[in-house]
Amino acid sequence: FRRPLIISSMGKRETEVGASKQQTAESRLHQLRTDLRRHEYLYYVMDAPEIDDAAYDQLMRDLQEIERDHPEWVTPDSPTQRVGGKAKDGFSKVAHSRPMLSLDNVNSPEELRDWDRRVRELAGPGSEIQYVCEYKLDGLSMALHYGGQQAAEGARLLRGITRGDGTIGEEVTTNVRTIRSIPLLIEPGPLGAAGLPAAFEVRGEVVMPLAGFLRMNEDREAAGLAPAANPRNAAAGTIRTLEPNIVAQRRLDFYAYFALTPAGETLFEKQSQALDALTAAGFRVNPHREAIFEFDKLLAFIEQAELNRASLGYEIDGVVIKLDSAELQRRLGYTGKAPRWSIAYKFSARFGVTQVQDIRVQVGRTGKLTPVASLAPVGIGGITVTRATLHNADEIERLGLLIGDFVRVERGGDVIPKVVEVVTDSEHPRGSRPFVWPEHCPICGSEVKRTDGEADHRCVNIDCPARLAESLLHWGRRGVMNIEGLGEAVVTQLLERALVRSVADVYALDEPALLSLERIGKKTAESLLGEIARSRQAGLARVLHGLGIRFVGERTAQLLAEEFGSMDALMAASQEELARVNEVGPRVSQAILEFFEDEKNRKLVEDLRAAGLHMAAARRHRTAQLAGKTFVLTGALPTLTREEAKAKIETAGGKVAAAVSKKTDFVVAGDDAGSKLEKAGELGIAVLDEAGLLSLLSPAD
Ligand code: IVH
Repeated sequence: FRRPLIISSMGKRETEVGASKQQTAESRLHQLRTDLRRHEYLYYVMDAPEIDDAAYDQLMRDLQEIERDHPEWVTPDSPTQRVGGKAKDGFSKVAHSRPMLSLDNVNSPEELRDWDRRVRELAGPGSEIQYVCEYKLDGLSMALHYGGQQAAEGARLLRGITRGDGTIGEEVTTNVRTIRSIPLLIEPGPLGAAGLPAAFEVRGEVVMPLAGFLRMNEDREAAGLAPAANPRNAAAGTIRTLEPNIVAQRRLDFYAYFALTPAGETLFEKQSQALDALTAAGFRVNPHREAIFEFDKLLAFIEQAELNRASLGYEIDGVVIKLDSAELQRRLGYTGKAPRWSIAYKFSARFGVTQVQDIRVQVGRTGKLTPVASLAPVGIGGITVTRATLHNADEIERLGLLIGDFVRVERGGDVIPKVVEVVTDSEHPRGSRPFVWPEHCPICGSEVKRTDGEADHRCVNIDCPARLAESLLHWGRRGVMNIEGLGEAVVTQLLERALVRSVADVYALDEPALLSLERIGKKTAESLLGEIARSRQAGLARVLHGLGIRFVGERTAQLLAEEFGSMDALMAASQEELARVNEVGPRVSQAILEFFEDEKNRKLVEDLRAAGLHMAAARRHRTAQLAGKTFVLTGALPTLTREEAKAKIETAGGKVAAAVSKKTDFVVAGDDAGSKLEKAGELGIAVLDEAGLLSLLSPAD
């Protein structure tokens, strides 16, 4: 690195100094933006950051400061402007430049061969057939419009539009802007290098990476909400959320796969060129892609994709094969709904059939008992599965499961596979032993209780070692107190050696204690102690999340911290005061009260305070997020009863009306929705499904 020359302005006359200060601030502003864009690109597109988070945050703060002093310099493509815009009342509809079609599918090499044969026939004799293979990302497709200025200034992100019905989509620009791998501005350099014009359209897939998906569901469950079924639904629900800051927390990703003119024409003569150009412009393009001439190589690519599938960190459900030549694409054209020049090779669902050898019970950090099926090992989608979750007692009953049964096991986006159904055909004998819930905790022997009306069984002993181990692991997790190194191996040893009897004891650990553990050297011990010390400053929201109060996940903890500002204020709050916080209903407020009524928990808080933990937060006054909004419910929702949906809306400050009128803000439609849905269409009122409603209500990260 060469150091920049510093030219001193000292000695100049007063007026000149003022002018040059202004200029320095302005050039500093441009430099900061360029630097921040580059670091965003390195971090979010290349997964190869050059600076750490703290240095990045500092650059961002510097830029924010200049923009605060000079609000007239703020432009929509500034890196500070990713999360902006207020909650809107819904999304407007926009027609696509050219329809966003879907693809025809094939499921077997034979079907693919037939398709290849048809392509060759249609292309005509002598045509050179080259394909491009890409992964079929399992998310939702999105069109991004860029332009708005001269090429010499680069191209700005103007709009993001969902696929919708293919012809008309919804404008979700404010949400799309929060996706860090989507550039807000392509600077003139990369734009020119990529060979992209001043205005163009990019199409691609918005996905939710698995890590974010699992975290989101953990939080939804902690908050007592139904988890999202898979990353695709989670991504789709998130993109239709009305609060951009929630979208920003969910960490979606975007992979580009088409480059079009603003009129929807193919921009490059080859699809492979388009992918390279998009890469050069700074978009994330999936690295798994290949130009292929020979049919057998297509099969090899597909096979490899299936092998890679389990370790990608995001979901794919197949391989997309496209004719490389735009000229041939035009010659082959479209059937009514799909291009003839492209096909999706869909992987078969990742199922396996195997026998349930036993059902064991695990104890989680809230004392919840989870039944887990021990399975005869079975290979599903490249990994060997030996366990599958059964969730709770109701689920076992629903499945009609007996130990010894053969079951169909599905591997979705979740790490732990799940049992879908009992196989009852003649080849698979039924099991004979029904599962009986233990009366005593399998770990500590205390009583197990099932509260009326709840699906879960719980161990009543809050000192249960299983709970303590889980509590410690939870405490250290990213998004909680973020103590790197406080993992399973360390926690197990700490408990075995009785070095830790509560979460607060972690703060009394010293180097000799850590060095007495196996496989911990001086360096590891030092770094763990550093992490523990640092976590003292994590703040009230994280401490609250870390305490593991039922239903209090990351977001609820954040809202509580902002509302009460200190642990003392929160602990002194009445149920009414608690329930006034957004998204905190009677169940959650009850759980919080019960938690703090328990002498042991109060002592834990005191011990944490004595250990030097920072337990305050900046208070913020928020209005209820749905204040003044009117909803109409119609049709049967998949999981919520009408009363539950109504209660949730009202808790968030909204109203539920019986009939659709111009005053209606949202119609929530389920199955067999009738005239109310039609009326909503006529009046142009935003329509949500249950997932849309839930993400609006419960923007858990
Ligand atoms: S090309 C007209 N390429 O799969 C061409 N689609 O069933 C349509 N998808 O709606 C899209 N990865 O949401 C294409 N590399 C990829 C894709 C991809 C995922 C999705 C997309 C599309 C659906 C087609």
